[in-house]
Parts: sequence; structure tokens; C-alpha cells
Amino acid sequence: MQAELRAALNAAARLTEERLQAALGTADGPIAEAMRYAALGGKCLRGFLVLESARVHGVAQQAAVPAATAIECIHAYSLVHDDMPIMDDDDLRRGRPTVHKAWDDGTALLTGDALQALAFELVGQGDLPATQRLELSVTLARAAGLRGMVGGQALDIAAEASPAPLTLDEITALQKGKTGALIEWSAMAGGRMAGADPAPLQAYGACLGLAFQIADDLLDVEGDAEVMGKAVGKDVGRGKATFVSLLGLDGAKRRAQELVTEACDRLSCYGERAETLRQAARFVISRRT
Ligand code: IPE
Ligand code: IPE
Ligand code: MG
Ligand code: MG
Ligand code: MG
Repeated sequence: MQAELRAALNAAARLTEERLQAALGTADGPIAEAMRYAALGGKCLRGFLVLESARVHGVAQQAAVPAATAIECIHAYSLVHDDMPIMDDDDLRRGRPTVHKAWDDGTALLTGDALQALAFELVGQGDLPATQRLELSVTLARAAGLRGMVGGQALDIAAEASPAPLTLDEITALQKGKTGALIEWSAMAGGRMAGADPAPLQAYGACLGLAFQIADDLLDVEGDAEVMGKAVGKDVGRGKATFVSLLGLDGAKRRAQELVTEACDRLSCYGERAETLRQAARFVISRRT
């Protein structure tokens, strides 16, 4: 990973952790503890995308931190529920027991719910004008819900029981929902804060989101569970519909590379300013974790 990107991801993780800790304050008990546990320790790619797209548009970092923290809360909630026995049934996440393993199913369910609610509390706060905060909130609700992450997760679960394999269009729609929607929202957030033309970042975010999930599906086949901190080799057995199941390893790698090239091309209007966003796109398909 290039040094600028590493520094920016680390900074995003630190800033969003501070904001989350401040939001939770001295709250204790199982749900508060599990919220901290679930929200921390990831790569913070989505939070980074919010902060970096804001920086590219000249938005003050402090104004962007609540939205960056909010998307990491939504992402963490989606993982807590995704890992539960009624969904993917995973025991390990970020190298540690999943929330339902470390606590129990009821705690995991409520921790996800509370993280989602906290995300909307956060996105409504901070230094941005009320119109921008409202737009971020409404678009985040859409990206997280039926027309975004939840809708995609529902298609993912339904595909496990589908007698016929999904078509390329169906898999694309599934992945655009379950993973793409939150990544696209993150990439577009800085432009929204600045009232800029959303089109270039939307196109970048859409390509990045798909490439990200193809890489996740490739890592399920070729990755190292120790390095990734989560189980691998599970998608085939569960009958998951992925680009790898449809295009094979080489076809999926080609598609991911094409998407990254397109993601970088779409940033041409930003010139050098968008170099760290380009580094992020290249990282997404070369990552080992
Ligand atoms: C994992 O996302 C879940 C998917 C959407 C594929 P990340 O790989 O970004 O997970 P963390 O946040 O770094 O743990
Ligand atoms: C998860 O996709 C997507 C969301 C949580 C919305 P996966 O089920 O492939 O993610 P991992 O492999 O468990 O991280
Ligand atoms: Mg899943
Ligand atoms: Mg999963
Ligand atoms: Mg996966």
C-alpha cells in the first residue's frame, strides 16, 4: 500500500474512533461495549472515502468527521448482522470472535440496531449547513436500506436457495446493493458537503464498490484466513452468488481490474488532487485483508 493511502486510512480510523468514543461517552453495559468492539479495528475504507472526498473539495476535516463516523457505524452494524447464525453464520471478524459469539444473539441484534441509530444521530450533527446535513441523512438512509445495503443483503440470502444460478445482471444488482451502496455514498459525501457536481464521484464510487466486492469474493477463495481475520472458503459451500462463481477466478480478476481503471479515469477532472482516491482504487483489488 502506498504511504499516502496508509497515512490517510490510519488518520480516518483515529478520527472516527475518537468521534465514536465521544458519542458513546461513559455509556457502559453490554450494548455500549459491543458497539465499541464492533465499530473498531477495521480498515476504515468508507470513513476514509468520506474524509478524502471532503478534502478534495476543500471541506474542513472536522466538518466531515461525523459523516465518516456515521458510515463506519452503518458498515459495522451490517457486519454484526451479516455474521449472525441466521445470515452467514461466522465466528470470526477482524481477528476476534463475532459479536454474537463474544456476547449472544440478542446482544448482536441490538448492537447492530443501536449502531444504525447512532449513525443517523451523528450525520445530523457537526459544522455543515442544515441543508447539507439533511441531504447526507436522506441519502444515507437510502444507501443503507431497501434500495441499498439491506436490499442487496436480501438478494444475497435469497440466492443461496435459488435453484438456478444468477445472471451477470442479477449478481451485479446484488453486489451494487449489499456493498456498492455504502461505498458509493462514502465517495460522494465530500461532493455533497461542498454542493459540487456529484457525477464524477458517483461513477468512481460505483466502480470502486463493485471492484471491492469482487476482491472480497476472490479473497474468499484465495485469501489467508489468518491475515484477513475472518473465515475463507465459505461462499461456494453456502451457494453464494458471486462474480467468481459466474466468471471464474481469471474472469473476475479481469473485471475487477477494468473497474479500477474506470474508477481512476472518472477522477480525471480532479487531477493530482485525487491521487489518494486513485491509490485507494488500486489498493482495493491488491489487498490481502
Ligand atoms: C467487509 O468489508 C465486508 C464487505 C462488504 C465485503 P471490509 O473489508 O471493508 O471490512 P473491515 O471494515 O475492513 O473489517
Ligand atoms: C457482506 O458481504 C456485505 C455486508 C455486510 C453488507 P460478505 O458476507 O461477503 O462479507 P464478509 O465476507 O462476511 O466480510
Ligand atoms: Mg454476507
Ligand atoms: Mg459474510
Ligand atoms: Mg465475503
